[in-house]
Amino acid sequence: MSERPKWLDNAVFYEVYPQSFKDTDGDGIGNINGITEKLPYIKGLGCTAVWINPCFESPFGDAGYDVSDYCKVAPRYGTNDDLINLFNEAHKLGMHIILDLVPGHTSWEHPWFKESMKAKRNEFTDRYVWTDSIWEEPVGYGSLRGISDRDGSCAVNFFTHQPALNYGFYRPTRPWQQPTDSPGAIATREALKDIMRFWLSKGCDGFRVDMAGSLVKNDEDGKGTIALWQNIRAFLDEEFPEAAMVSEWGEPYQSLAGGFHMDFLLHFGSSHYNDLFRCEKPFFNGSGDASAFVEKYIDSYERSGGKGLICIPSGNHDMDRLARHIHGDNKKLAFAFLLSMPGAPYIYYGDEIGMNYVEGLTSVEGGYGRTGSRSPMQWDSSANAGFSTAAADKLYIPIDPDSDRPTVQKQLADENSLLNEINKLILVRQANRPLQSLGKIEFVCKGEAGKPLAYIRSFESERIFIVINPGVNSAEIEVNFSFGEVIYSFGKGAALCENKCTVSAGSAVFVKIK
Ligand code: GLC
Repeated sequence: MSERPKWLDNAVFYEVYPQSFKDTDGDGIGNINGITEKLPYIKGLGCTAVWINPCFESPFGDAGYDVSDYCKVAPRYGTNDDLINLFNEAHKLGMHIILDLVPGHTSWEHPWFKESMKAKRNEFTDRYVWTDSIWEEPVGYGSLRGISDRDGSCAVNFFTHQPALNYGFYRPTRPWQQPTDSPGAIATREALKDIMRFWLSKGCDGFRVDMAGSLVKNDEDGKGTIALWQNIRAFLDEEFPEAAMVSEWGEPYQSLAGGFHMDFLLHFGSSHYNDLFRCEKPFFNGSGDASAFVEKYIDSYERSGGKGLICIPSGNHDMDRLARHIHGDNKKLAFAFLLSMPGAPYIYYGDEIGMNYVEGLTSVEGGYGRTGSRSPMQWDSSANAGFSTAAADKLYIPIDPDSDRPTVQKQLADENSLLNEINKLILVRQANRPLQSLGKIEFVCKGEAGKPLAYIRSFESERIFIVINPGVNSAEIEVNFSFGEVIYSFGKGAALCENKCTVSAGSAVFVKIK
């Protein structure tokens, strides 16, 4: 893997879902200028970088993950110049912006797909995964069939309107399955580089890559997809060595080998991430068990050889809001964990004020059950919670109707708010190297049912002991070191004597090791 951009060593990301963040032109939907206006707020929270969900031209059948022009900002969000202005303003504040790259599929409205549907061979015939007969479907994938004169079925990558781009098959088993070094697969890869080149040369700092592990087909071990990303990393090293790359992959030992700097732990797959935040008995509500998560984490950490960053998000646009499952001050304990783990933390917009999952919404733009986690940001007590000046019935998604809904304004004014606690935690992280991205981790207590989570973070000779006890009983932990200065404490804290820590229920403590 290439040199990691220096700024990742201490990065804390904030995810902005652009349609729901801030509307500055009163049309009921967020826009790029709204993000620019709120950069000082994001910086004030302590975040150093922003990931923006796809903001490109799209029919919005999947909230913009169905791109129809990769190089054009969707008019509803503004112009390319607005986005370039956002890059520049962020840089003035010492912040970084990463865009969402969707390499696995396009919208079926993309001009490439329209060309590839034609019966007559052309430049885009092999841009997508097509079978060579309408009567054969690509096994393991849904397909688009009978939609044009082309005699074939096209594989889809996600929703039916998202045809799969062709990066080849690792082990082709049918004549229409092209190898990864076929001209069609290579042309797709090069087109992807052109898109990256386009935005990186305009000042974007990198990409969050959608479904990054899905590109090469018939590739169970991910070897073909890893090789593809290594090829792209070589291009970046050559032309944009500072570009930061984070994958939606969920298997760090694969994605980091592919040259990504960071990989997300996902709410699906093998991570046990949900055991902590989103299940019947989440660990951070005090009754659950974190040990399966910890074991899988240690496995990923060791298999990736400490080379890259494993990123644990507070939530994202695809999963339930944290506040749907974690209540009251337990949210602060969850953030004490998120902000003291290795890798770069990602805070989903609104999670810093404990925004609720809005129940009972009809699906908007392919959100389905995810729509409740995508409601507009709640800024203040003005109309539409300060999100937009449009009439309430013109909002893209309705505001949380709860009269007691949290807002940034209320929480800034309350020193005990979740927002202020998160700010405090980020400042502690930024003041202590062991707590940052590259500090090592060693678990002392894996958070088995009824037990706290405890770990040591270290960097060079500095060591910090972290203990988080969301349980209802205090707990004792024996250690083989003595304690120094307490740098963070929440709740009743802990009694620290020689070689023993007694942590109160509902508490978190970060303490230096002597
Ligand atoms: C990713 C995105 C999700 C999208 C899907 C298809 O999982 O996070 O929102 O629907 O990919 O692009």
